[in-house]
Amino acid sequence: MTESSEYIVQPGGALTGTVRVPGDKSMSHRSIIMGSLAVGETRVSGFLEGEDSLRTLQAFRDMGVAIEHQPGAMVRIQGVGLHGLKAPAKALDLGNSGTGMRLLAGVMAGQEFTSSIVGDESLHARPMGRVIKPLQQMGADISGNPEDKPPLVITGKGSAQQLKAINYTTPVASAQIKSCLLFAGLYADGVTEIIEPGITRDHTERMLRGFGVNIDSDNNTVSLKGGQQLQATDIEVPADISSAAFFLVGASIAQGSDILLQHVGINPTRTGIIDILRLMGADITLQQERLVGGEPVADIRVKYAGLKGIDVPRELVPLAIDEFPALFIAACCATGATTVSGAEELRVKETDRIAAMVSGLKQMGAQIEETPDGAVIQGDQQLAGATVESFGDHRIAMSFAMASMVTSHEVRILDCANVNTSFPNFVQTAASAGLGIRVSDEVAL
Ligand code: S3P
Repeated sequence: MTESSEYIVQPGGALTGTVRVPGDKSMSHRSIIMGSLAVGETRVSGFLEGEDSLRTLQAFRDMGVAIEHQPGAMVRIQGVGLHGLKAPAKALDLGNSGTGMRLLAGVMAGQEFTSSIVGDESLHARPMGRVIKPLQQMGADISGNPEDKPPLVITGKGSAQQLKAINYTTPVASAQIKSCLLFAGLYADGVTEIIEPGITRDHTERMLRGFGVNIDSDNNTVSLKGGQQLQATDIEVPADISSAAFFLVGASIAQGSDILLQHVGINPTRTGIIDILRLMGADITLQQERLVGGEPVADIRVKYAGLKGIDVPRELVPLAIDEFPALFIAACCATGATTVSGAEELRVKETDRIAAMVSGLKQMGAQIEETPDGAVIQGDQQLAGATVESFGDHRIAMSFAMASMVTSHEVRILDCANVNTSFPNFVQTAASAGLGIRVSDEVAL
């Protein structure tokens, strides 16, 4: 069934049973990029069949990389080496994906040919200056629109192309900027060093090592020498903790819940959601912890627990950056207030996620006050049923779906088609675990 644009969710219920959520989005993008730039065949299992990662896959096909992909089966990439990409016949279209666009910008900056990168309306509203500026410092001819937003145009300089290695301190803690510059650094003439104001996800570093690249990292500094050739490898993508997050929150707030989430990536740069929920009193246990292809993985058991409000520690914000929409729901169900600060990056995600959550939660009768870099959310709230906007943002839609477990009446969520960017089959998966969710008949495809 194709997921449609409107969800109707019945109040109440509990999450139980065993669920495996889809593959990690960040790792899926990176597996295609690195597999394409490597020498030899890379095989990827657990690849996310979501629209975002499929856009990245298509972009590399558009540049002449042979990629075999049957839904549900292993992805096989015939890598062309660092210098084997071909000029695409048309603009590379990354759809809704900020990760796809920013990571690809780093790769395209190193190519001898000219390319342009476009996306959907939401992506065209997102800031790209954060990658344009450092890539220009490396000598790339790259520009966006006058406001440094997409489309991006990268003008190749023919065979004389060579980027300069730089030493760059990023203005915001962003794995996308870091990864973009690491990819560009592969095409630079020395050691590229990136220093971040906070720790961000390190999947690029771990995966590059898996492809045989020497890369140094120490706390918030990472560096690599240009010209290193990637050697093909096999990659097993674990389930995405950012997709598991909806179930972590749903089970924590819905009485009677007890659910096992299988094979979830628990890379310490991604587990901020677990740390924050535990600080709030959640009952989360990690089982069968193991290392799979250089990434830590576990089965996660979560049971209902009475949560309490907290001041979310700022250092955990980048480690849970995609999970705040779901955390806002948890905060409404906690005892006492929860304060989120230092999270201004939420305003430049697929939508302004602070504004979107505040607006929907107010519709549900919540007491929530928006601040420039977060929100103050009052706990002990009985949320009402309501019709809420997701603003076309997958994580907003799935967060409100989980909220319905504690609402008094039905919740209707508008504009949910983009859930397919990160969580294909969300409706079926959530329904099988006990959420009373269905796609509205009026708009079902
Ligand atoms: C991502 C990094 C994060 C995150 C995004 C995926 C990545 O963005 O929000 O969903 O795969 O590198 P920033 O690094 O810009 O915070």
